[in-house]
Amino acid sequence: MSNDFEKELKIIKDSKWIGKNLIVKEIIESTQTEAHILAKKGSEHGTIIIADEQTDGRGRIGRKWVSGKGKGVWLSIILRPSFSIEHASFITLFTSIVLNKVIKNTYNIDCKIKWPNDIYIGNKKCSGILTELNTELKEINYLIIGVGINTHKSIYPKELKNKVISLEECLDYAPNRILLINNFLKQFEIDFDLFNKCSFTAFYEEYLCKMYGIEKEIRINGKLTGRVKGINKSGHLLVETSDGEIISIASGEIEFQ
Ligand code: BTN
Repeated sequence: MSNDFEKELKIIKDSKWIGKNLIVKEIIESTQTEAHILAKKGSEHGTIIIADEQTDGRGRIGRKWVSGKGKGVWLSIILRPSFSIEHASFITLFTSIVLNKVIKNTYNIDCKIKWPNDIYIGNKKCSGILTELNTELKEINYLIIGVGINTHKSIYPKELKNKVISLEECLDYAPNRILLINNFLKQFEIDFDLFNKCSFTAFYEEYLCKMYGIEKEIRINGKLTGRVKGINKSGHLLVETSDGEIISIASGEIEFQ
């Protein structure tokens, strides 16, 4: 990533608070790890860390996130919200809606959200979100949202090959990451203000409409099976078990059968 990348990001952006402090790195261990370091030093609300390559990109539940040079958007956002820890649990669901909307508006690609926050194109994942909270005396000190979007074709380990997709594979060209980053950040800023005021209620219906796998059979945490029915107002997954009971799942890994 050349200095031009940084310059362009600064020129295109026209925001109120997001990315006013923008850090662009050619190579980094993980933007998420760097964001924690910066947040602890007092970096402001809306600080963005973007890298062209991550050597130790982190995914949810301790997984690695493949983040090759120039192959995607790898960024973290530092937030210092005034809302409660309970409200913070909705931020990942909220971010997945923003991402879904931006991919649709920028590339006309219809993607879906696999609960809680994976972005799917067809039956493959193109983007993931990792949210990490730092709290003190039951208050949020800071919150970091890590976003990874596979924009360009890449080489994946065998076990991921049939599960992952890039935007380039859906378009007949390689997408412009600067455009995508700017569209995402602008939309995030606009929608975050609403999220702040109205909570997830304002986005609940939209999430339901965009959900991947409604009525499909799933396995939860490798054990329980059932059929996806949607989410409830708390953002928990609703599943119908084989005896017709509707149960809600607050967290966990779901696999489609
Ligand atoms: C997941 O689906 O498991 C979440 C993946 C999150 C990846 C992003 S890339 C930018 C940021 N830095 C990281 O190390 N991880 C997140």
